Amino acid sequence: MPSQFDLIVIGGGPGGYIAAIRAAQLGLATACIDEWSNAAGGPAPGGTCTNVGCIPSKALLQSSEHYEHAGRHFADHGIGLDNLRIDVARMLERKDAVVKQNNEGILYLFKKNKVAFFHGHGSFVRAVEGGWEVAVAGKASETLVGRQVIVATGSTARALPGVAFDEQQVLSNDGALRIGAVPRRLGLIGSGVIGLEMGSVWRRLGAEVTVLEALPTFLGAVDEQIAKEAWKAFTKQGLKIELGVKVGDVKVTKKGVSVAWTDAKGGAQTLEVDKLIVSIGRVPNTAGLGAEAVGLQLDERGAIAVDAECRTNLPGVWAVGDVVRGPMLAHKAEEEGVAVAERIAGQHGHVDFNTIPWVIYTSPEIAWVGQTEQQLKARGAAYRAGTFPFMANGRARALGDTTGMVKILADAATDEILGVHIVGPMASELIAEAVVAMEFKASSEDIARICHAHPSLSEATKEAALAVDRRTLNF
Ligand code: FAD
Ligand code: NAI
Repeated sequence: MPSQFDLIVIGGGPGGYIAAIRAAQLGLATACIDEWSNAAGGPAPGGTCTNVGCIPSKALLQSSEHYEHAGRHFADHGIGLDNLRIDVARMLERKDAVVKQNNEGILYLFKKNKVAFFHGHGSFVRAVEGGWEVAVAGKASETLVGRQVIVATGSTARALPGVAFDEQQVLSNDGALRIGAVPRRLGLIGSGVIGLEMGSVWRRLGAEVTVLEALPTFLGAVDEQIAKEAWKAFTKQGLKIELGVKVGDVKVTKKGVSVAWTDAKGGAQTLEVDKLIVSIGRVPNTAGLGAEAVGLQLDERGAIAVDAECRTNLPGVWAVGDVVRGPMLAHKAEEEGVAVAERIAGQHGHVDFNTIPWVIYTSPEIAWVGQTEQQLKARGAAYRAGTFPFMANGRARALGDTTGMVKILADAATDEILGVHIVGPMASELIAEAVVAMEFKASSEDIARICHAHPSLSEATKEAALAVDRRTLNF
């Protein structure tokens, strides 16, 4: 007899493991199947985010930022260092330890919440009375039956046509997080989020970094004024970014990678690098899921087709996270996972897609929520904008990090905040206040009248709110 569950979650990334925990909290007998293995072959739940995404990339960003601070900025504080060097092997060990802590944390949470965890590949077999039969292929094979199923199988890196990832010289995010020594010349295709974060890591450690981007504009989804400020900072740091390029033949030899490309003016160019990171987006992962066996519908992008509440075309089958439409972000996957678990339990789970924050963890960090100025202009909205530079913020001066600004966009008539855009120190943390404000439909006047601690970077947010009404106090 197959084991019976109220809910089977396929995939143990942020979408899947969080959905499983929430469902178990709500009293559902829940199983979670995840196939990710660590180097020893053991389970490594947490998905892309924990293993080859958010967590390891932030660990390396932190290490490389310390290195850059030690080399370039400590002297300003009167701290002298002789013989500064980077031990890449140690840095990678630390990153792996951080990943392991997260994997183990999730296994502990499964136990604590009584989620039955299965390490292996999950696939649909067939519809059965009262649910779905799902096979688990792992060290031991099993068959489970679930009254409901959530698919949370995530995404994988998109390759350049005809150029497979070998993870030695042509790297996806996976290989990009495991480079064993600082390459002298590093190339990146795509100046999106991964391109900028990974490019920053290896540039800080001493690589000569060139990024080739197809689009003619830099960070097209980001508010233009913020993107311009970021461009200035990144190029000043030494990131070489070429926009409007067309990537041609990529030749991989033992020595390195040679990329033929055409520049924005049509000139033929060649980029010779030791390693090439390809970061041109990600594709939903439905490989071996048995979607066809049960008639689970995909959309034209290969994502699982879902409605606004994450229902698929099959009764009792849901899908969340990177494998469905919407931004490929860990917190979006988590919110969807919680909402679906609550819907299954008869509650009214809800995700507000208008207030999902974005963060790019470069230095300066870039973070935003809501609409950009160009989006407001495009829809003819009447708005007021207020900006405040970190240059005029006491805490930023004390930190020695005054790049960037906070920008608030508010409705001209009602003053409701429509978007908040930040480039600068700790933007990833500062954006939370903006998300809360927007979720509660706050006005810029609300933020302007709230007491913010002094000295703090968050005072820049208050001042940007004051700037909407042209009454900044410190600028
Ligand atoms: P995933 O995390 O991809 O998890 C899916 C899991 O399902 C995996 O463990 C996979 O092995 C498993 N699986 C797949 N198919 C099966 C199957 N048939 N049977 C069993 N198991 C299966 N997002 C942020 O919000 N912040 C960041 O800072 C950030 N940084 C990132 C950095 C990098 C380098 C990358 C690549 C991504 C980053 N992301 C970040 C995006 C984030 O990782 C994803 O949005 C998030 O992981 C999606 O969660 P998910 O649960 O949908 O899928
Ligand atoms: P991306 O979508 O952010 O950027 C891809 C870039 O590659 C785009 O600018 C695109 O124009 C460009 N591009 C596409 N095809 C190209 C080609 N043939 N030649 C040159 N340029 C090309 O995708 P990325 O960086 O791969 O990241 C994938 C996703 O992972 C992100 O969209 C994001 O959802 C998630 N992520 C989130 C992070 C965060 O929240 N901090 C960090 C890293 C990834």
